Amino acid sequence: MKKITYIDEVNIKNKKILLRVDFNVSLNPDHSIANDERIHQSLPTINHLLKNNNQLILISHLGRPKGIDKNFSLKIVIDKLKEYLPNFKIELAENLDDVKEKKSQIIVLENIRFFPEEKNYSTLFAKKLASLADIYVNDAFAVCHRTDTSIIGPPKFLSSYGGLLLKKEITMLDKILNNPQKPFISIIGGAKISTKIGLLEKLAKISDYMIIGGAMANTFLCAQGYEIGNSFCEYEETQKARKFLSKSLTEKPYVVLPKDVVVAKSKDEKEKITVKINQIPKNYSIFDLGPQTLAEIGNIIAKGKTIIWNGPVGYFENPIFKDGTDFIYYSITQNNQAISIVGGGDTLAAISKKEYLEKITHISTGGGAMLEYIEKGTLPGIEALKDSP
Ligand code: 3PG
Repeated sequence: MKKITYIDEVNIKNKKILLRVDFNVSLNPDHSIANDERIHQSLPTINHLLKNNNQLILISHLGRPKGIDKNFSLKIVIDKLKEYLPNFKIELAENLDDVKEKKSQIIVLENIRFFPEEKNYSTLFAKKLASLADIYVNDAFAVCHRTDTSIIGPPKFLSSYGGLLLKKEITMLDKILNNPQKPFISIIGGAKISTKIGLLEKLAKISDYMIIGGAMANTFLCAQGYEIGNSFCEYEETQKARKFLSKSLTEKPYVVLPKDVVVAKSKDEKEKITVKINQIPKNYSIFDLGPQTLAEIGNIIAKGKTIIWNGPVGYFENPIFKDGTDFIYYSITQNNQAISIVGGGDTLAAISKKEYLEKITHISTGGGAMLEYIEKGTLPGIEALKDSP
């Protein structure tokens, strides 16, 4: 079986390295960095490669710009990187020619999504990227589910390796997926089941309990025949939701859906009320889980030995609807016997206070990537590394 070679398994010295990282940090409304965790998590690989006198050409995306947009320039990322690596000269290169001219030990190519060829796979662009370096290293787990040129292109032309963050993410996920300690609890939030049904089915096979929250739960409630007022619902998915639920009744897992919910007239409300799910007023929408549901969830989380959590369970952007998400976070951190994995930028951004963060076994830098890895067991970026020359 083909496998990835990681950078700590070979001796890479005095080389030019094209290093794909994920510096897609969450930004504040004024486009300053809200959370630099992804930069921080890239440092072990960067330091490992710098130690052996390699020159690094860093490639990353930031946001989803449509063409060149200074709001998504990597300049702010470079400023942060300079704080972490004060002994190195770090330069921004606007384009590929600029990369060739610069001599610093660390060169950061401007946001790769400013180049139209990044999203529209281009062999020519992949070759041009590859021509900048001797070796390609991918440490961008969080974007490995994309078939973007900088992810799957350079490994076709250069000897390619996995970085240390990629190794950590894959090792942790494999560990719990291949040999999960039971009871296994999955907690899935977010808006849509249409994008997550494959994942739900995969997780159902290994989970003993599956807790479904967020707007996704509304579609399940609707499938069970509840009137959900003005709540978001994917009506076209109710059939799938019903099938999923009836299967879980005869097989596994035990599915936890809301029994009571927090509702309001709009997402920007300051007033909220809690109701049973059979009493949702017509012109109200569901924005969070209610206390009875949380009590049940708390009991389940307390007995878990493996816990995977992705996605907030309420509309956390409005602080009055954050209680459910905070409760789940605290319940996980209070369970000292479980291996816990939390993924997705939104999930962590949704938590009010970051105390006890170290009690979570692994915080994945990947949201979509983590879910797709769980569902499919691999990702395009990972396969590309295995096939490299
Ligand atoms: C992420 O934030 O999940 C990754 O950086 C991928 O970003 P994308 O969803 O814009 O491709």
